[in-house]
Amino acid sequence: MMRVLVIILFGSLVCTAAPFGGSWEIIERTMKFINGCGIAGKWHAKYVATISLTCKPDPSLTGVETLSGRWSNAPDNHYPLKGRYTKVNNDYYLGFTVAFNNAHLGNSGSVSGLTGMYDAAWKSMTTFWVMTNKTDPQDNWQNSKIGKAVFTRVSN
Ligand SMILES: *[C@@H]1O[C@H](CO)[C@@H](O)[C@H](O)[C@H]1NC(C)=O
Repeated sequence: MMRVLVIILFGSLVCTAAPFGGSWEIIERTMKFINGCGIAGKWHAKYVATISLTCKPDPSLTGVETLSGRWSNAPDNHYPLKGRYTKVNNDYYLGFTVAFNNAHLGNSGSVSGLTGMYDAAWKSMTTFWVMTNKTDPQDNWQNSKIGKAVFTRVSN
């Protein structure tokens, strides 16, 4: 029984490997998926946040992917982040959003959007953010702030 299973498994492996171009592409995609993109990993911007990023390839296009990750503004306070980027050579043009509502602190009534770029030569990610906080209706005209955050890699 075991031997039959092994033969069937091996046979199907050989069959899928036969059209070499196709299976190489699958291997390449799998490796890229495992390794993530060049900006995957942990980053820190002083006084702002520590973020970790993962990338999900867009099957229909090259150089543009979906970003996911975690935004932490305290060791025990995390929020999901979601975004997109497009890549030119080794530079990444990226943007993502964080909605400040989690189980730990509840709904803070605020959201941030960041856009910026990772410059391969600078090895840092320079972003500008706009943060909107809930205010009383008469203060809606001043419910948003803009700022700059420069993220550098956290080694670990
Ligand atoms: C705006 O929201 C952020 C994130 O929830 C919070 O840290 C900050 O204190 C808020 N600012 C104001 C003025 O409410």
